[in-house]
Amino acid sequence: MSENQEISAKLAGAFGPDFVWGVSTASYQIEGGVNEDGRGKSIWDEFSHTPGKTLNGDTGDVACDHFHRYGEDFKLMKDLGVDAYRFSISWPRIQPDGVKVEPRGLDFYDRLVDSMLENGIEPSATVFHWDSPQALEMNGGWENRDIVGRFAEYSRLVGERLSDRVSRWFTLNEMVVFTLLGHGIGIHAPGKALGFDALNVAWNQLLAHGESVKALRAAGAKEVGLANNHCEVRPIDDSAEAKSAAELYDLIYNWVFLDPILKGEWPLAGFIDPNIQDGDLATISTPIDFLGVNSYNPAFVGAPAEGDELPFDLDVFPEGYEKNDFGWPIVPDGFTKMLVGLKERYGNALPPIYITENGGAFNEVPGADGRIHDQRRIDYTDAHLGALLDAMNAGVDVRGYFHWSFMDNFEWAEGYSKRFGLTYLDYETQQRTPKDSFDWYRRVIASQKNR
Ligand code: BGC
Repeated sequence: MSENQEISAKLAGAFGPDFVWGVSTASYQIEGGVNEDGRGKSIWDEFSHTPGKTLNGDTGDVACDHFHRYGEDFKLMKDLGVDAYRFSISWPRIQPDGVKVEPRGLDFYDRLVDSMLENGIEPSATVFHWDSPQALEMNGGWENRDIVGRFAEYSRLVGERLSDRVSRWFTLNEMVVFTLLGHGIGIHAPGKALGFDALNVAWNQLLAHGESVKALRAAGAKEVGLANNHCEVRPIDDSAEAKSAAELYDLIYNWVFLDPILKGEWPLAGFIDPNIQDGDLATISTPIDFLGVNSYNPAFVGAPAEGDELPFDLDVFPEGYEKNDFGWPIVPDGFTKMLVGLKERYGNALPPIYITENGGAFNEVPGADGRIHDQRRIDYTDAHLGALLDAMNAGVDVRGYFHWSFMDNFEWAEGYSKRFGLTYLDYETQQRTPKDSFDWYRRVIASQKNR
């Protein structure tokens, strides 16, 4: 049997040789080395060290120790055959107190990028994946508009240092999740439960995105975009109440972030208005080269019960779907519908898309043979890549796919209890073991390149 026969006929060679294949991670989830080279404290150091905030009190102090082991990781990535690697830069390594510059932090990312290139991997950098300096949090953090200027300066610093070698830049990761989980209900850092007032945080992130695009371009960046989370929103039943709850959720989850960027419009005008100033929408809608889409599963939404604080019920899991070890339903056609929905809403204003995260928590551990037989991850990814092809055939311009994640890592409030990696991490020994899905993904990529 040739290697290609082990991947489904639908995927083999179907994306063409120019499609970009990659893997994603984020600084706080993998780096460790929290006290190395003058790094300052981030909001995630503060949050994870606060009792009761993460499962088992887990922290990112050591994580995958990527700070010291990146050479080994890039060799593995080279074996995997990816074209590109999406990583994020830790803001408090570059500006420990949010202001002063730490040259050793810039030097670290310099070495990291060079090591990727030595292994034939294109660096794709996210400027912010949720670990802002704790010192700025003490000054109001993302609620204080002052952070926008700080973020532009930080973007300039990393842009000037790395733009000559970074192929594509992502300004912020998942503004929606940072807003809702970090500031709306407070189960992620910085742990604020502001309810709908969190929309000011959304606004400041949108502005920071726009200023960052400008700063990165001025610093010579080749391609600039962002990575946001999007999902198809499905009412749980046919009732008018569930439908209108779903519409509102769709607006808040999907369109609050993209309408300002792609249409220069605030979609909740007159309903909930953040502190909008003249010129803000022009900054936010600074043209981007691509849109990064992170997506895992659709959202099922029900009508709120009497006395609920929120105008929708998200605790409604329909029967009949398989779930991953996070309890997230596995619904591949939701992936197609989400992408087609973006095209329908924005038409030609929708830039080319990269899928910048997709994957699942499948907690398989080594078997008696020492291998990790994570067939469920293979099945999930096979189905979602198939669903991606369906969207592309329906006219959505998708240029690449980055799997989340390259290796098991610190899964935020869930600590180390959820495994999303193609590579297994033994956190005691730091040993890395490629899973079955790693070999499968390698074959998927190889089949596109006629290797
Ligand atoms: C985030 C990642 C996270 C993943 C799985 C995304 O929301 O960007 O940092 O690990 O989903 O939960």
